[in-house]
Amino acid sequence: MKDLIVLGIESSCDETSVAVVKNGREVLSNVIDTQIKIHEQYGGVVPEIASRNHIEAISRVAKKALEEANTKFEDLDVIAPSYGPGLVGALLVGVSYARGVSFALNKPLVGVNHLEGHIAANYITHKDLKPPFLCMLTSGGNTQIVLVKDYCDLEVLGKTRDDAIGEAFDKMARVVGLGYPGGPKVDKLAQEGKATINFPKTHFDNLDFSFSGIKTAVINLHHKQPDINKADLCMSFEKAVTEVLIENIQKAIEQTGIKTIVLAGGVSANTHIRNEFTKLEEKGIKVYKPDLKLCTDNAAMIGAAGYYRYINGNLSDNVLNAVPNLKIGE
Ligand code: KG4
Repeated sequence: MKDLIVLGIESSCDETSVAVVKNGREVLSNVIDTQIKIHEQYGGVVPEIASRNHIEAISRVAKKALEEANTKFEDLDVIAPSYGPGLVGALLVGVSYARGVSFALNKPLVGVNHLEGHIAANYITHKDLKPPFLCMLTSGGNTQIVLVKDYCDLEVLGKTRDDAIGEAFDKMARVVGLGYPGGPKVDKLAQEGKATINFPKTHFDNLDFSFSGIKTAVINLHHKQPDINKADLCMSFEKAVTEVLIENIQKAIEQTGIKTIVLAGGVSANTHIRNEFTKLEEKGIKVYKPDLKLCTDNAAMIGAAGYYRYINGNLSDNVLNAVPNLKIGE
């Protein structure tokens, strides 16, 4: 079969990224232009500023991605932007750019769900990985257990009822003075600490999650005892949220009988979470983790998901729009 070259485009939040991906699994280039330094001073992403910076970056990032892949526009087979979920103004930059390229080259346009992209990051890291599997999707905006029945047949089995896990990391980090984005900073500091504090966890009968109680307990404790050891606080927080993830994924394994677990999303870069999930292998469960550089937002994962959508016949028309609250399976 002829090689299929996909141009992946990602602009859902504060990373402008363009990638060239071959046959859904091989990354020829993956250029990521992050705005972290710009938003750091505000303690979080400012949507309007994010959109403006995407506009400024998109053509330059795309040009670099093509150069690094030694590919010309004419060599592309499919144009695949993420069109949701995310910040509407930010998404619109990638979607509009993709529509323009697709129209000018007369090449198919394939809109990709950003969350499906996170899952597809694993197809790049693990060449042997095939559905069916259960995905523990943990990112800044989402926390879900997804049953991946096939490449383009996904069902959400459980999700957070309040904060996403990454949001809880970022909020507690800001309050204890670690800055933005909090996740990587909590991760680093926790490695020097011990889980000395037991935080309350919320359990549900189904596979849903709640993280706001743990986050609030951490913040309240820090307010009451400002001198508390921050490394211990971070480790105790990580232990509590990880136990919630593990408990629910074990329930999902029991319910579905599927013993292959895939981690995805920005928070799957977390050292403690990765280590604790790896321990499940002692129970005969196969655990796949994405390469660290593919955990957070990037266009290679969008290109990989775009490949599978294209071969499944999920083409978009040239009026594709951004869908800020797009759900998995829509
Ligand atoms: O997946 P992502 O890049 O963006 C969304 O699609 O939401 O995830 C970003 C989130 C942020 O909340 C960030 O703090 C968190 O991932 N994160 C981490 C780590 N690296 C990134 N959280 C915990 N430990 C990390 N090492």
